[in-house]
Amino acid sequence: MNVALDSLVRLRKADIKPAARVLTESFQQYPLLVQKYPDESQRNKAAYYFFLVIVGYGVRWGEVYASSPRMEGIAVWYRSEYFPMRFRKILRSVPFSALLCFPWSGVGRLQKAADFVEARHQLTAPSEHWFLDSVGVLPQYQGKGYGGKLIRAMLVRTDMERLPVYLDTMDETDVRRYEHFGFRIIDKSAVPKTTLTNWSMLREPGNQ
Ligand SMILES: CC(C)(COP(=O)(O)OP(=O)(O)OC[C@H]1O[C@@H](n2cnc3c(N)ncnc32)[C@H](O)[C@@H]1OP(=O)(O)O)[C@@H](O)C(=O)NCCC(=O)NCCS
Repeated sequence: MNVALDSLVRLRKADIKPAARVLTESFQQYPLLVQKYPDESQRNKAAYYFFLVIVGYGVRWGEVYASSPRMEGIAVWYRSEYFPMRFRKILRSVPFSALLCFPWSGVGRLQKAADFVEARHQLTAPSEHWFLDSVGVLPQYQGKGYGGKLIRAMLVRTDMERLPVYLDTMDETDVRRYEHFGFRIIDKSAVPKTTLTNWSMLREPGNQ
């Protein structure tokens, strides 16, 4: 039993849309989204559908947690056997109503960067690991411990399973933050057709 995870709320199918809204708002200033969608309303729309896929996929094939029933923050995790996301599996995890109005061409702007990041992940991560796909806390709750609570609870579990954890980020502030949780940089590369850098990070089990 993992007491730390018991302090979080594991999300189900009915939570996919509210959780995607929380991640959309949390990632409003994420460098890749800002660069690809300078217009804020376009950015929010694309990010919402992007996170619908991520949360839906996580609920179906991995584990998605909220910091509390109020959903101050959300973390999406899955194991390496479910990476990379397969279209067939996405179709089985995202609400049908969302697929019907999915803005394929709008979200397509993120595709090249997403493909690049996926390739770095495949190349640099060990074969068996947990993937922290996304973690976000609503702006008004950031810096108050919710992100730490979401991340640490799962690290107790990954330590118990003796598995490493992989994540990537294009925000240098996150790199320092994740180092604080025991992650180390395993790859740093320029993201094609952007001015951004992608950091791949790995945390070996038990590393503080
Ligand atoms: C990243 C994010 C999830 C962190 O959540 P948060 O609730 O703001 O974080 P917390 O207040 O729990 O702080 C987490 C820890 O990081 C530490 N930290 C914060 N900034 C740091 C920095 N620059 N260097 C080192 N440590 C740092 C804090 O001290 C805290 O450590 P502690 O728990 O030991 O006290 C949140 O800021 C967010 O949603 N950002 C926007 C979305 C995003 O970029 N997500 C990550 C990309 S995958």
